[in-house]
Amino acid sequence: MKIALLSGVTGQDGSYLSEFLLSKKYSVHGIIRKSSSFNTERIDHLIDNNNFHLHYGDLVDSSNLEDLVNRIQPDEIYNLGAQSHVKVSFEIPEYTAQVDALGTLRFLNIIRKQRKKIKFYQASTSEMFGNSSLRSQDEKTSFHPRSPYGIAKLYSYWVLNNYREAYNIFACNGILFNHESPRRGETFVTKKIISHAVKLKLGLTKKKLILGNLNSIRDWGYAKEYVTAMWKMLQQKKPMDYVIATGKGTTIREFVTKTYKYLGFNIIWKGKELKEIAYDSNNANILIKIDKKYFRPTEVDKLIGNPKMAKKLLKWKSKTSIDDLIKIMINEELKKYKISE
Ligand code: NAP
Ligand code: GDD
Repeated sequence: MKIALLSGVTGQDGSYLSEFLLSKKYSVHGIIRKSSSFNTERIDHLIDNNNFHLHYGDLVDSSNLEDLVNRIQPDEIYNLGAQSHVKVSFEIPEYTAQVDALGTLRFLNIIRKQRKKIKFYQASTSEMFGNSSLRSQDEKTSFHPRSPYGIAKLYSYWVLNNYREAYNIFACNGILFNHESPRRGETFVTKKIISHAVKLKLGLTKKKLILGNLNSIRDWGYAKEYVTAMWKMLQQKKPMDYVIATGKGTTIREFVTKTYKYLGFNIIWKGKELKEIAYDSNNANILIKIDKKYFRPTEVDKLIGNPKMAKKLLKWKSKTSIDDLIKIMINEELKKYKISE
């Protein structure tokens, strides 16, 4: 039986990857942080599985990570743990670097010192590309990160490359573009829009949805599919870095329009920049407004990935369209309220 150790097991990707690895008969060990309230909602359904184990830990504590690797003796480590919010990284840049940059170095040093056979996956990100002038970004596109988060992740990307070359460690960067799901954190834009729109539809709120920059373009895929690419990278003969994306871009404005349309609202956009609003064409009620507090000091305007290499070498391809992703997220959100009624 193969053994996997995951940081970030309580997060969106950690929960899907755990399910996937358990289905592949792995023994899965996840690192959870001490929290003052429950933080295992996404993995509660796995806790009774005999092959699923949780350990307290933190990416800022190298002695803890070393102890876990020693005790668990994993075949594969998936480093998914991170302060993953781009806007928040402007407010806590030093902590973001501690976790998202040095956390990776801590794991790589443990592998270097103790057991070079361990395969390592790093959750790299399209945010490292920043504002690229190209139509789409691939493994050869140069980096120009635009946030403390993107910069911390770029450190991890490069230190992994250096340790792979210097110490022959089997380590891969998965450069994943945005991926969403019903398990997405509430403060990311897709989940924020869908949660609000569903509450509006069910009559649970009358408040307006307040958003930031509507013009940025993101390449949104389905998280459940993306975690399979992580595993595939570690099953190849040679460790490499791969872009994982759908290849299609959508603006935030289009995402809002599609979401509201699916729920039966026909919204009309009016005005520009901070004065832009969206109203309901049936009754002229204003549904969406803009507030500059949701803008970032520096924005990444357009991220569209070119996943050609993943298709060729990993035989991986995104299957869920943006419209289907929105349907999946809305239907799960609706279920949540039906169950609690
Ligand atoms: P997420 O839902 O925000 O989950 C982040 C996970 O990291 C949570 O389990 C969190 O624990 C944990 N964590 C945070 N700080 C930690 C620390 N100091 N020590 C140990 N664990 C810590 O993120 P996600 O969407 O699943 O993304 C997974 C990874 O992929 C992240 O590294 C993210 O930066 C990267 N990524 C995500 C996307 C995307 O679109 N989702 C795209 C590219 C890359 P708590 O539950 O206790 O907070
Ligand atoms: N969060 C948020 N909230 N974003 C908003 C809002 C809002 O109210 N209004 C507009 N946006 C815009 C942001 O300015 C950004 O351009 C876009 O919506 C997406 O924001 P997020 O959903 O927060 O995601 P992200 O693209 O910044 O970062 C996510 O994807 C990265 C991969 O490209 C995160 O998952 C990162 O961890 C990940 O690395």
